[in-house]
Amino acid sequence: MSDFVNNFWSVYVAGITVVGIIACLVLLIITARKKVVADGDNTTGHVWDEDLRELNNPMPRWWVWMFVITVVFGLLYLLAYPGLGSYAGKMQWSQVGAYQAEVEKANAELEPLYARFTAMSSEDMSKDSQAMAVGERLFMNNCAQCHGSDARGSKGFPNLTDGDWLHGGAPANIKQTITEGRVAMMPPQAEVVGTPDDVRNLAHYVMSLSGSPHDSLKAALGKSKFTACAACHGTDAKGNTMLGAPNLTDDIWLHGWGEQAIVDIITHGKLNEMPAQNKKLTPAQIDVLTAYVWGLSNSKPGATN
Ligand code: HEC
Ligand code: HEC
Repeated sequence: MSDFVNNFWSVYVAGITVVGIIACLVLLIITARKKVVADGDNTTGHVWDEDLRELNNPMPRWWVWMFVITVVFGLLYLLAYPGLGSYAGKMQWSQVGAYQAEVEKANAELEPLYARFTAMSSEDMSKDSQAMAVGERLFMNNCAQCHGSDARGSKGFPNLTDGDWLHGGAPANIKQTITEGRVAMMPPQAEVVGTPDDVRNLAHYVMSLSGSPHDSLKAALGKSKFTACAACHGTDAKGNTMLGAPNLTDDIWLHGWGEQAIVDIITHGKLNEMPAQNKKLTPAQIDVLTAYVWGLSNSKPGATN
């Protein structure tokens, strides 16, 4: 309700609720007034299937009381809980509050478990089968939607199992990536490089760096243009983890392979973001995930213990 600019809809919904309850009460009073008719046969006069008649008795007492109790319960409920438009209710209950209370309770229950994990180094944790089971669960719930359930990523989302790191693969780097997120930015380079032909030649030079199939004549022509790229990707094109600039010599392609894919990146640049997780996960959870991700390319999870 707080999403609306004024409280018209709040009043409208509350009004319908209140009118509905009053209508129920009126109906109850009208029908409760009916008395058993002493004279006559007390039927409605309708006859079905030759001899089926409908009696016109008042409602049984217990039924009336059930009705009254339901209405009273409804009123008390609306007083205690949010139900009448944007009125928050006397108990100050909210879905967000209930969720946060549950999360806090779960975190408090899990604290002793995590305390054991966070006392370990990432290397040791990655060999602890219990820690890795927790890490896998956390990964499935928080990371798999982007990096894949096998952590092998997809176009634009890095493979976390291949030992190739944009931002560094030491536990401290991984922890920082998860905690604060990463923004990798390559500005469009076409103007610096020159004509569309220059860009295409440079793309062939880039492909030659990893021994990928390429046109060696074009690559030779494009080679000198790589100076525009060296600032970030390094003069040896092996990348720079400080900037998140990938190694271009390893035949691992985050954004697709081939002349067209590379021409597109040089022409349009690239902005890629790993969202920070520190609002969503506790520091202890991030420690376990760090060990889990580190272990994917450095040790076999669950090998010992
Ligand atoms: C919304 C999608 C998304 C989610 C969710 C996400 N990531 Fe990422 N992650 C990315 C992208 C995109 C990158 C690449 C950023 C770049 O290009 O520099 C990345 C990069 C990384 C890297 C750095 C890889 C490298 O080569 O240096 C790590 C480690 C990582 N993610 C771990 C995680 C973990 C652990 C989680 C779960 C807590 C997670 N990510 C959740 C999108 C996501
Ligand atoms: C300002 C720094 C910067 C400069 C200059 C730069 N790049 Fe990049 N480049 C990056 C970053 C950062 C990424 C990674 C984007 C990401 O993580 O998604 C990237 C990604 C790429 C990729 C994609 C690699 C893959 O695995 O898919 C290619 C290819 C590439 N750059 C080529 C070049 C070429 C060629 C030049 C020179 C014309 C160049 N870059 C200049 C920073 C730069």
